[in-house]
Amino acid sequence: MKKYIVANWKSNKNLSEAEQWLQEATLINASKETEVIIAPPFPLLGVLHTSTLFTEKKLQLAVQTISPYPAGSYTGAVSTRNLVGLDVSYALVGHSERRVHFKESDSDVARQVEQLIEVGIAPIVCVDEPSIISQASALRESDLSKVIVAFEPLSAIGTGSRADVGLVGRVRDKIHAVFGSVPVLYGGSVDGHNAGEYLLVCEGVLVGGASLDARSFREIIDRVE
Ligand code: PGA
Repeated sequence: MKKYIVANWKSNKNLSEAEQWLQEATLINASKETEVIIAPPFPLLGVLHTSTLFTEKKLQLAVQTISPYPAGSYTGAVSTRNLVGLDVSYALVGHSERRVHFKESDSDVARQVEQLIEVGIAPIVCVDEPSIISQASALRESDLSKVIVAFEPLSAIGTGSRADVGLVGRVRDKIHAVFGSVPVLYGGSVDGHNAGEYLLVCEGVLVGGASLDARSFREIIDRVE
């Protein structure tokens, strides 16, 4: 099965910092079975899209959220139509920071998933453990098997206090019981030292802080490979 290593830059980096990261990332060279995916802030999609790492498909592009509405009169929103031509293949949806700070509800997340599936962008739906069933039940039944699921316990995000590997394995089983056999990623304080352990129990990792420095991100890819 394919492996996924996803970098979530959140709202970090400006244009020159992104260019610097790209220069330092030139040695990234994952195997064909590993999808290395970068989710930058929206304004940086253009510069990443034209860099050789992306044109040569060594890296794939993702967005960190998407409008739950189609293109139209929704000031400030970014719709799937705005992404046409940028080769965005994946989208994070329902990250806990979106749910907490921007009040995205389970039904917002479900509508985002619908928008994405309509245009063939793969949704990476972020869930936390006690809410997996309610978060999944907001989705259309037919969409459940079309997503990638990221288990991201709130207590592990940005804290250095990562989840127990055994727990991640058990939650993966629970996710499979609800969604079917979709790829499951783990996110929360993943770094080059611990990434390999998670790849033994799930299909990939979602990396925040340790993805901001190109060398530490490359270390994660090397360990996983
Ligand atoms: P972290 O963030 O790796 O900094 O804990 C992960 C995430 O929020 O996706």
